[in-house]
Amino acid sequence: METSSEGSRSSSDSATRMTTISHHYFGGGSSQFDHLFSVEIIENMEDEYGMFVWPCSIVLSEYVWLQRSRFQGVSVLELGAGTSLPGIVAAKVGSDVILTDKSHNSEVLSNMRSISDQNKVNCQILGLSWGEWDSNIFNLHPKIILGADVLYDTTGFDDLFATVTFLLKNSPEAVFITTYHNRSGHHLIEMLMVKWGLKCIRLLDGFSFMPPQKASSLQGSNIQLIEITLHK
Ligand SMILES: C[S@@+](CC[C@H](N)C(=O)[O-])C[C@H]1O[C@@H](n2cnc3c(N)ncnc32)[C@H](O)[C@@H]1O
Repeated sequence: METSSEGSRSSSDSATRMTTISHHYFGGGSSQFDHLFSVEIIENMEDEYGMFVWPCSIVLSEYVWLQRSRFQGVSVLELGAGTSLPGIVAAKVGSDVILTDKSHNSEVLSNMRSISDQNKVNCQILGLSWGEWDSNIFNLHPKIILGADVLYDTTGFDDLFATVTFLLKNSPEAVFITTYHNRSGHHLIEMLMVKWGLKCIRLLDGFSFMPPQKASSLQGSNIQLIEITLHK
């Protein structure tokens, strides 16, 4: 993970925490003065991973916006959503969205509810820890699964792909779209595809579709976007 300078931020400091609202612009020039809509994200800079907008999330949300016709009227589930920018954009363009993060992380889940309310979208918020099977997961049938920067800790890959594979098998036409920092080449993804009986159907350099203004704020990152399906 690398930190982002994307968006304009306003802050309200308390003694020990710094809560900010970052503004993310879509359409037009993707700027404060030229956009079709904006999303406001509540972040806490001193807290944990799920309280911050990571660069992979900026890339994935732009992709959702550019592919918005594909997202209209479709059920979408975001894994490890944290501050949930891609899921909120999906909801804004007409998806039926479930935002998920670690079940026991009440602060992150509560912030996801606040962010959904702040942006006047009606996302469902659900605790979903990778590799854990509570009754909720059996009823999930998303058409599109999103995950921004969820491939960041190799010790969590098996749990993540256990959940992704289960969800794909539960909805065989579904696709998992994820952005990740490419630090060690594509062979890691290839290995995971073989191990989990999946296939990577598309691979894009995240910068190939980013508006210049956003791309410049992410300089130095090597972010890839892939789509994964079951290998039938
Ligand atoms: C690097 S952050 C990315 C957050 C957000 N997607 C973004 O890109 O801004 C990783 C996210 O995965 C979540 N996460 C990590 N391990 C998880 C697990 N075992 N089950 C569910 N979520 C997990 C974290 O809580 C965090 O929100």
